[in-house]
This record gives sequence, C-alpha cells and structure tokens, in this order.
Amino acid sequence: MGKNLENKSILITGAGSGLGRATALVCSREGASLMLSDIDSEGVEETKRLVLQAGGAAEVRVTDVSNREMVETLVAETVSELGGVHGAFNNAGIEGDLTGLSRWSEKAFDKTLAVNVKGVWLCMKYQIPAMLQSGGGSIVNTASAAGLVGVRGCAGYVASKHAVVGLTKVAAVEWSKRGIRVNAVCPGMIDTPMLDRLLDYVKAPKETVLGQQPIGRFGSANEIGESVAWLLSEDSSFVTGVAMPVDGGFVAQ
Ligand SMILES: NC(=O)c1ccc[n+]([C@@H]2O[C@H](COP(=O)([O-])OP(=O)(O)OC[C@H]3O[C@@H](n4cnc5c(N)ncnc54)[C@H](O)[C@@H]3O)[C@@H](O)[C@H]2O)c1
Repeated sequence: MGKNLENKSILITGAGSGLGRATALVCSREGASLMLSDIDSEGVEETKRLVLQAGGAAEVRVTDVSNREMVETLVAETVSELGGVHGAFNNAGIEGDLTGLSRWSEKAFDKTLAVNVKGVWLCMKYQIPAMLQSGGGSIVNTASAAGLVGVRGCAGYVASKHAVVGLTKVAAVEWSKRGIRVNAVCPGMIDTPMLDRLLDYVKAPKETVLGQQPIGRFGSANEIGESVAWLLSEDSSFVTGVAMPVDGGFVAQ
C-alpha cells in the first residue's frame, strides 16, 4: 500500500542524521515537500542534497529545538516557504550521559530534558496552530522503547522519552477532534550513530546485545522512516495517541 504524502508539507527536526534523514528520504519518495531542520548545519545540508538527488524538494533551517524563538521561527518559515504544515516529525534528541542514575550530572540531565522534552513540546506548541490553519495534520514524536521500559545507564534519557509519550497522549486527547492526530514512534535498537555510542558504553559483545533482540538483529533507520511516513499519511487515519513500538519485539519481552 502506498503512503501517498503528495501535496503535503512536512517539517522534520533532527533531520541531519540517522532516523530524521532516513524519514526525510521516505517522505520525499512519497511526494512530500520538506522543511529539514537540525542544530548541525552540515548534516542537514547533506540530507537536503540526498533528497534533491533523489528528485525531491526540501528547504533547510538550522534550529536548536530547545530554543523557543528558533522553534517559533522554524514553524512560521515552514508555513511561508511551503504554504502550510500538514505533517511534523519531532525527532531531534540526545542520549545525555551514559552512566548509572547516581552518576548522571545535573547539567546532562537538564540538557537531555531540554532537548528531548521541551523541544517536542515547543515544536507542538507552534505546529498545532499552524496545522489548524492548514486544515489539520499529523504529528509524530520520536520517543523510544526507552519511553516504555527502563534501561540501565540511561536515567535522564528514559525519563525524557517517557515524558514524550505523555506529551503525545495529551496532544492527541486535546486536538484529534480538530483534525490533528498525534502519535509517538518508539524505536528499539536502530543502527545509527546514537546506537554506536550506546554500544560503546555497554561494552558487551555485539552478539550479546543482538541476542536480546527477539527479531535477532538491529533495525535500520529506513524501517523507522517507513513507519513514520505511515503515521504521517492518511493510511493511519484512525490512529492517534499511540506510542508505537518499532523495535523487533524488544518491549514485548
Ligand atoms: N538509534 C536508536 O537506536 C534510537 C532508538 C530509540 C530512539 N531514538 C531516538 O531517535 C531520534 C533520532 O536519533 P538518531 O538515532 O537518528 O540519532 P543521531 O544522533 O544520529 O541524530 C540525532 C539528530 O538530532 C540532532 N540534534 C541534537 N540536538 C539537537 C537540538 N538541540 N536541536 C536540533 N537538533 C538536534 C543531531 O544533530 C542529530 O542530527 C532521537 O530522538 C533518539 O532519541 C533512537
């Protein structure tokens, strides 16, 4: 089944790497016009290059999602450049410290919550009024399997991703009647630079970590992109307020 994002303008944060980049390529393949945003200008320009190379259309803005003025401007410029905003993938995120709960620094805890939680809230704060002007839309927030279960060594991250699930549910309850669906995607272990950093921390042989995955392998960023594009499209028209694991069965254990 095609996802058909034809004539939709979609805003993606954290578009300069991993899941954001892969989702940009899937959404573009399905016909969307894109506003690509990241704090990393080189990364997001590279994503734009890949989208254009594949025949798509994209604009770029460098934005720190934890900065209110920058997010407000990003959404306003998405509307003025692309003629509205019909979909958003609020995906920018950081892992913070990778260490036991009592060893997390206050600075890392505050920053992780600022980017992962306040960033998602700020994005929705400005996207929702813009989407109402565009006749409705679909928002997908990147939570994590760590938004559904506890994970050792990731206290601030796990707290932040549980909060993303909570924010997603509130937004869905508040806005679905007005034509805005809001869902969270909860990726398991996906092969991106963030996973490399996590594997470095756990220092377990790759085979051991793979053995903990019911499906027996890590996911690809493209597999998240396909799921997100489905949530952004009308094919998922009765799905809202869901925290959807895309995790090879990890949280089913
Ligand atoms: N890779 C995984 O296994 C996995 C699993 C579950 C959830 N996630 C989540 O998926 C999302 C994407 O992660 P990824 O694996 O692609 O990681 P990544 O590190 O490859 O990409 C994250 C992107 O977010 C950007 N970013 C960081 N801070 C930002 C800020 N303040 N403002 C704007 N952009 C910022 C980075 O520059 C980077 O381009 C994150 O929210 C992450 O928590 C990843």
